[in-house]
Amino acid sequence: MDMILIEGGKPLHGVVRINGAKNASLPIMAASLLTGEPVIIEDVPDLIDVEIMSRILEALGAEVHRQKAQNQVNIRFSNLVHNKVPHDLVSKMRASFLVIGPLLARLKKARISLPGGCAIGVRPIDLHWKGLTALGAEFIVGNGYVEAVTDGLKGAHIYLDYPSVGATENIMMAATLAEGVTVIENASLEPEIVDLANFLSSMGAIISGAGTPTVKIEGVESLGGTRYLIIPDRIEAGTFMIAAAATGGRITLQNVVFDHLKSLVAKLTEAGVTIDQSAGGDIVVESETRLRSVDIKTLPYPGFPTDLQPQFTVLLAIAQGVGMVTETVFENRFRHVEELIRMGAEIKVEGRNLIIQGHEQICGASLKATDLRAAAALVIAGLAARGRTEVSGTVHLDRGYYNFDQKLRMLGAHTYRLEKGGEKTRAL
Ligand code: UD1
Repeated sequence: MDMILIEGGKPLHGVVRINGAKNASLPIMAASLLTGEPVIIEDVPDLIDVEIMSRILEALGAEVHRQKAQNQVNIRFSNLVHNKVPHDLVSKMRASFLVIGPLLARLKKARISLPGGCAIGVRPIDLHWKGLTALGAEFIVGNGYVEAVTDGLKGAHIYLDYPSVGATENIMMAATLAEGVTVIENASLEPEIVDLANFLSSMGAIISGAGTPTVKIEGVESLGGTRYLIIPDRIEAGTFMIAAAATGGRITLQNVVFDHLKSLVAKLTEAGVTIDQSAGGDIVVESETRLRSVDIKTLPYPGFPTDLQPQFTVLLAIAQGVGMVTETVFENRFRHVEELIRMGAEIKVEGRNLIIQGHEQICGASLKATDLRAAAALVIAGLAARGRTEVSGTVHLDRGYYNFDQKLRMLGAHTYRLEKGGEKTRAL
């Protein structure tokens, strides 16, 4: 099994460039289904999830060329032949469900197995379903598959019970080619929604209000090709900021949007971390003394992101005082806690809350990562701990972070990757 070994206790120092956002790349790749013309997407990170989405698009009949060295993906769907997405791919990634809106819009039918992804809760798809039904789709479920058909999508007024990121994206994509006007109310406000809307607009879609609770889409006959640059990954940036804070280091992050990180910046500052923005837009994070405990509550954007909750939990485990974490977005996102307790952290789980008594030191241990952000959290814990930590389940890490351990090593961390067979094949 692949594993990352960490010798803890080394403060991070240096400069790190943040990649394009995974969570913007995946819906934008799916949205390329909406045109037969060439689409070029830039700063798409080389991740397992991007590879899965590429293979899904290929299975549908697309030509997908990834120029990994340039982080560029070229997609052309001139010949959209299939409407069925293979189960083995869908089961690996929940975001594969994002192709259903574009498929319905372009082919009037879609067949996809029920989505998988990280083990962080039930994660239903009822809001996607409800929105697409309002646009004129009919759904049939059987044998683990969802089949959707339509005579032609028509604009509608849709109120989302919850501002789901994926549901907002699926409805927005489908509505670009629907007849008439669609209004999504209580839409997700995440920066990735704005990025998708900008991408669709660059293809000729007419969208207003993205990034506000009310998004309006005027359907058009067809969309054209485009060349588009993905926004920086705020979760990757946030993960490095927390890692710098947890190790008492000083790092500079390049290719970041400060505005996307406001909730994290507020909490890190409250805990005693110094954060500055350079004239060129870089973010400098510095932490010299032991941090104070704070409380965090995860919420849809612009609230504190659930995707940074496990990493921030590590910070609270070594801070001074008692901190509380409230997870409101996913119901089962505390799977990192058991592992942190094995390192000596004092954490009580009470329903959707964690009560964390900070200790100056945690100790290295042998840990198992069960999902993407938990994997990042365990690596950060290893960096902050005394002694040696081994984190297995690195496949989760590689789903969402490009060269995470290599980037950490460039910042002075002592991290090594062991690949299958136990041999140290990459001393990073
Ligand atoms: C996206 C992100 C993920 C992030 C999450 C919340 C991508 C590829 N993934 O996931 O990293 O953690 O946003 O910021 O962009 N829900 C329903 N019914 C639905 C849809 C969602 O009940 O039809 C629930 C989910 O179970 C979850 C909550 O709503 O509890 C948030 O889900 P959603 O916003 O849809 O997240 P994703 O798009 O899956």
